[in-house]
Amino acid sequence: MELMGKHVVVTGAAGGIGGGLAERFHAEGANVVASDRDAAGVAALADRLNAIRPGSAIGFAADIGTEDGNVQLIAAADAAFGPIDLFFANAGVGVGRGLDAPETDWELAFDVNVNAHRWAAKHLIPDWLARKEGYFCSTASAAGLLSQIGSAPYTLTKHAAVAFAEWLSITYGDQGVRVSCLCPQGVNTNMLKMGDDPSAGISSSVVRSSGKVLEPAEVAEVAVKVIQDETFFILPHPEVLTYLQRKTGDPDRWLAGMRKLQARMANP
Ligand SMILES: NC(=O)c1ccc[n+]([C@@H]2O[C@H](COP(=O)([O-])OP(=O)(O)OC[C@H]3O[C@@H](n4cnc5c(N)ncnc54)[C@H](O)[C@@H]3O)[C@@H](O)[C@H]2O)c1
Repeated sequence: MELMGKHVVVTGAAGGIGGGLAERFHAEGANVVASDRDAAGVAALADRLNAIRPGSAIGFAADIGTEDGNVQLIAAADAAFGPIDLFFANAGVGVGRGLDAPETDWELAFDVNVNAHRWAAKHLIPDWLARKEGYFCSTASAAGLLSQIGSAPYTLTKHAAVAFAEWLSITYGDQGVRVSCLCPQGVNTNMLKMGDDPSAGISSSVVRSSGKVLEPAEVAEVAVKVIQDETFFILPHPEVLTYLQRKTGDPDRWLAGMRKLQARMANP
């Protein structure tokens, strides 16, 4: 899909990867609805984008960790720029670590990292099937293909996000609905920085296991290319594909290697 003149919605767009995606899609000529629970953050982004091209962006505050938040966002986007061409479900949380993670962390992780994708798709797909076109992108993580040492909720929910994107592609891919799934390793955002604060969620060991740290703009660059090509995986760290092939080629060897990595991270 070429983004020029398209109507694009990005969640989690107050900063980080979502902010980078929104700015880059706008630079490609799209009209952008930037959404986040951080109202001031998306209002500031919309102001910046409208200063470049008046009337080309809105900021919309929504909690996409609820079905109603997704319904409100889709309605507001429709009212602003008409039918949505591309919806990028990018917002995410890195809460919780092991088996003792509080139930509230598990619920939040599932609502924001997985259910948000399901709720958005539920309210987008009927219109896309009628129009015979639409593009759903989601941000999962390399943790959704491999694992996240140190965080069970993150690992489970990101695997579920990849699985849901695959299911959407299988189910609707021959009816005009395109699907891509972003699976980065480390990206220089608040979520990665939060890893330095053990009380904030995923541990600092996560940061050290996240491979080469990219900037959000570098991730957005790869995303635009994949969206133009309409292929499934958006892999800003291409080595993730090699790791996935190693994992599926010899799962026991891969698991043994991950255990060694975990031990090294526990005793650096
Ligand atoms: N940074 C990394 O290293 C990395 C790696 C792989 C995947 N990811 C994924 O990338 C996505 C973006 O994260 P990021 O790294 O830019 O971090 P970030 O913390 O900068 O951005 C996440 C955004 O999501 C928003 N958000 C969270 N819960 C929300 C809710 N209920 N409703 C609306 N907005 C909500 C936050 O306000 C924030 O602006 C996430 O899905 C994350 O899991 C990040």
